Formats: sequence, C-alpha cells, structure tokens
Amino acid sequence: MNAAIRAVTRLAYSKSLHVFGFERGWEGLMNDALRTLMPRSVGGIIQLGGTILHTSRSLEFRTPAGIKKAADTLSSEKIDGLIVVGGNGSFEGALALSRETDTLIIGVPASIDNDIYGTEETIGFDTALNTAVNEIDKIRDTAISHERVFIVEVMGRARGFLAVAVGLTVGAEIILVPEVKVDIRKIVARLEENNAKGKRSGIIVAAEGIGDTRKLGEQIEKEAGIEVRLSVLGYAQRGGSPTGRSRLLANLFADKAVELLMKGDGNRIVGLNKGKIASIGLKESCEREKPLSLDLLKLATVLSS
Ligand code: F6P
Repeated sequence: MNAAIRAVTRLAYSKSLHVFGFERGWEGLMNDALRTLMPRSVGGIIQLGGTILHTSRSLEFRTPAGIKKAADTLSSEKIDGLIVVGGNGSFEGALALSRETDTLIIGVPASIDNDIYGTEETIGFDTALNTAVNEIDKIRDTAISHERVFIVEVMGRARGFLAVAVGLTVGAEIILVPEVKVDIRKIVARLEENNAKGKRSGIIVAAEGIGDTRKLGEQIEKEAGIEVRLSVLGYAQRGGSPTGRSRLLANLFADKAVELLMKGDGNRIVGLNKGKIASIGLKESCEREKPLSLDLLKLATVLSS
C-alpha cells in the first residue's frame, strides 16, 4: 500500500494536482483527518509494509450516516478524485460512497486474498505468497526429518486464491480451499497412498476459509494413525517488505488510476487483465465473484504425486 501511496502522490503531483491522504482510511474521511502528501513526504516508504496513513475496519462507515459524513468531507474539502487502495470490503464502501458524491472514485486493488473481480492480481498477494513459501520451506524440514504431516493454514478470508498459489509453489501434497469440499476419507486415502509410495511426510496447505483446521488435524491423526501438526501462518502474511512484483503492480496501478482521474473517468477499479493494466466498473467488480481456477488445483495434484 505504501508503494501505491508514493506512486499516486508523485504521479498526481507531476500533473499539478494537490494530493491528500486520509488518516486511517474511511475513519479519516468521515472525520476530516487529512494529511497533505508531497513528493518528499512519501520518500523512503516503497520498501515498507503496511500503510503510513494507517487503516481501520470502520463500523461507522458501514452505516448511511457514516457514508454521509464521508461524502460531506469530500464536498467541504473540494476533493475532485478519491483513490481507494484496498480489498473488496473497501470497494464495497467505495461503491456505497459513489452513490452519495460526485467525486470521482478509483479503486486500486490491494489485498493478500487476491479475490477481487476485475484483476488477475492484487498488490500484496505476491508478498504474502513469498512469505508463506519461505515459512513452509522451513516447516518442510521438520516434516521430512520427523516423518510428520503438517497442516499449514494460510489466510485468504473466504477464498482459496492464496492457498492454491502457496500450495503449488511449495509442492504441497494436498491443497484445501473453501471452493472445493473434500471428504476427510479422500485426504486420508491420499496420505496412505503417499505412505505406500515411501513418502512419509507431507504438507497440507489449507485456506483459513475451510473452517477449523485444528479439528481437521485431529481427525486425520485419528483416522490415518499418523502424526499431524498444525501451523497457522497468520498475520506475518500481511506484513513485511513488499516483493518487487507487488511494488511493480503498485506503480502500474497508480499510474492507471491517476490517468483515469485526469480523464474524468470515475467509479472504476484498475487491475491486471490478461497481463495488461486495465480497468472495469466499480459496480461490476463488487457484484461479480472472481472464479478460482480448478486447473491450478489439478496441476498441483499431479505435480505433488
Ligand atoms: O482480507 C485480508 C485479510 O488478511 C484476510 O486474509 C484475513 O482473513 C483478514 O484480513 C483478517 O482480518 P483482521 O485483520 O480484521 O483480523
């Protein structure tokens, strides 16, 4: 997100625009807490995780009164364009706000979940992927030497995009995602098959959205009679220095977002479509569900055989 804030500020400034950042996201917009951003005030942040503006999960913004307050700030501060950097919760908020304001709104997708319709990738996804891969490579050492099965729970909210990418790139024996229900007997059968082949350890990458992974581990242990450990990667996936790929996307998305604002083309989100920077309507993005590629899951199954 910092890479996006830096790029938006400098690109907009180069086009003689005044740039402000709202503190704590929607909270700052509702309470008129804004900070002037200048090219120099966003120096030295491209390599930092999180956001220098801070953020919040605002309950008030979900109410009509909250939206009204935010729209009033946009009007009193004479804001012509608002760039919202965030995930689908932020975009739903942006859509609600767009109905109450004439300010042009552009969404810049940033989420480790990669679950936003209208972009093949979000800022931060690659960073979280690499964090998870680094951790699981280390977990693999214990799995192999102790001949254990590990369930590694990754984030992703209700979707399995992160789990599939992580599972594929760590060579996970099994990937569990909310989009595909898998019977425990199938998991046990796969592990027994592996054991018969001489593969006495394994990594199961499970998306947090599948439910209680601790219980799942206990069930597998009981039914398969093998030692199972659980490792929940948690919030480490949301932090740390962004990868080159995440920074690149932040720069390119920011460029497109400022270009759309300059053209007066609002209520859109920028994104990656067939590898190219593009944009779609904010409403369409909020209303449609991004499909998960089952081909990737099949590929992972073959590759880990
Ligand atoms: O949407 C990003 C995300 O990190 C999800 O993967 C996770 O489920 C959620 O946010 C955690 O939210 P919170 O920080 O509110 O606990």
